[in-house]
Amino acid sequence: MYRTNTCGELRLTHLQQTVTLSGWVQRVRRMGGMTFVDLRDRYGTTQLVFNRESASAELCDRAEHMGREWVIRATGTVMERSSKNPNIPTGDIEIAVSEMQVLNQSEVPPFTIEDETDGGDDLRMRFRYLDLRRHCVRSNMELRHRMALEVRKYLDGEGFIEVETPMLIKSTPEGARDFVVPSRMNPGQFYALPQSPQTFKQLLMVSGFDRYFQIVKCFRDEDLRADRQPEFTQIDCEMSFVEQEDVLTTFEGMTKHLFRTIRGVEIADTFPRMAWHDAMKYYGSDKPDTRFDMRFVELMDVLKGHGFGVFDSAAYIGGICAKGAASYTRKQLDALTDFVKRPQIGAKGMVYARVEADGNVKSSVDKFYSQETLQELRKTMGAEPNDLILILSGDDIMKTRKQLCELRLEMGAQLGLRDKNTFSCLWVVDFPLFEWDEETQRFYAMHHPFTSPKPEDIPLLDTDPGAVRANAYDMVINGVEVGGGSIRIHDSALQQKMFELLGFTHEKAQEQFGFLMNAFKYGAPPHGGLAYGLDRWVSLFAGLDSIRDCIAFPKNNAGRDVMIDAPSAIDDTQLDELFLALKPHEN
Ligand code: AMO
Repeated sequence: MYRTNTCGELRLTHLQQTVTLSGWVQRVRRMGGMTFVDLRDRYGTTQLVFNRESASAELCDRAEHMGREWVIRATGTVMERSSKNPNIPTGDIEIAVSEMQVLNQSEVPPFTIEDETDGGDDLRMRFRYLDLRRHCVRSNMELRHRMALEVRKYLDGEGFIEVETPMLIKSTPEGARDFVVPSRMNPGQFYALPQSPQTFKQLLMVSGFDRYFQIVKCFRDEDLRADRQPEFTQIDCEMSFVEQEDVLTTFEGMTKHLFRTIRGVEIADTFPRMAWHDAMKYYGSDKPDTRFDMRFVELMDVLKGHGFGVFDSAAYIGGICAKGAASYTRKQLDALTDFVKRPQIGAKGMVYARVEADGNVKSSVDKFYSQETLQELRKTMGAEPNDLILILSGDDIMKTRKQLCELRLEMGAQLGLRDKNTFSCLWVVDFPLFEWDEETQRFYAMHHPFTSPKPEDIPLLDTDPGAVRANAYDMVINGVEVGGGSIRIHDSALQQKMFELLGFTHEKAQEQFGFLMNAFKYGAPPHGGLAYGLDRWVSLFAGLDSIRDCIAFPKNNAGRDVMIDAPSAIDDTQLDELFLALKPHEN
């Protein structure tokens, strides 16, 4: 028998029991005639003690010479520790070992297998199987498992059934770039890996499945960031005979269930809703972090036309009020100015105004503004003594709002308003149906081409498509878009019109999406749904900075798996079988 107990299990209640444990040697320490070994497995760490006064010299010699990460089995008696360790659950006891076998030796690991490791990111990713032995990494995977389980429990209870959909599907031009897979049996033809099971879940609604979900891998060939991986996992859902309100209620319920069961947080109130237009106007983002207020205030009326050229020529002037931050030093303000001027943000500069204790306003552009105008600024901003007003301007409204959004988030962080253990949930609703792309001079679907317009906006499809609002919604938690979805078009004529507006010819639409439009001719029920990003949600609950930390085997920023060294070249025989030839390229 390898073990009677795990390394996380034994307590004072087990005193004097004879037990056998198996695990990895975390550390070996010698103190006089005693050798202490920390033995680790998935469940915890238990101290083994080899005592020369009671155990054989041969056993103690072997224990002393064990290396880190050796795999051993030890049998002994549970004893009370004289110096207890309150930091671990097994810290009251130790095992006085009488027998021990080495089950496997280990080379010296390339980094220490401890929460505070000396291994850099790249090294840890190359030896990810060792990294996953670290408690802090493994606990993220345990959290992920529990969340997936609770999702399944909740959705099962609500009548959803999990259905698998294919991984080898058809490439489509919309959305991100596809990962493609050549077909040996169909020379010159390619499958695509699904960016999401969107069309399949809609077809399942046509099939009468009524409530579908799937915890499913999705693949997108896009530039990677902390919250993006080329393959990631969605909790993908679809429902029939629903309106937007039904979908929001169901998934608000699931979100509350997860908060309750995973974080122990009871959320009684319904989630606030914010129109996309307001999110952009007041926060410069379609995923505002509402843990703190600091809304944008437009200042065109107050600050334009006073001889300050930058503002006088601006298409947008907006400010935020940082409560109690008037004590910011010149150095801190210069650092903020440098922050907004970084190329990734792109502002030209920043103006600030401090409200002093006596109510006077002192600004960095005092020479252009009278105290009277500055008082008007103060009033418009709702600023009080000791507050700091920060102002950005620009000739592109959206761009300037995005810059102000970055400044707001930075100030929120600096003022400690973005606590990882505080959660603020929000629905962003009423997204525009289309977004215009200057470069290609055409409309793109803001969500995807199957999203329905709001019925009252349908007439605008012919006259002003840019103004049409969609039945689309995103769930945002702490400024992270955890999920999004829409009520779908279920009418083949409206779907055809949508494709036309997106620049598809009739033939192209048939070629790409004929299967869906044909299906809609056979009685498609009204339907809608959404998909959550499981990785994003887990990392939010775990307080992680990157979703990579809750994925067992993630890719790096260049889309590589450095452990298995993928992607990699394939040999000529494989290429020949697939009828493929490579073009010359630069590495
Ligand atoms: P969407 O494209 O908004 O919608 O994706 C849904 C959710 O998936 C997560 N997500 C990602 N997570 C990690 N890495 C990525 N590269 C990545 N891309 C997206 C986000 C996002 O909110 N079919 C629709 C859903 C629907 O309409 O029902 C869809 O895929 O958390």
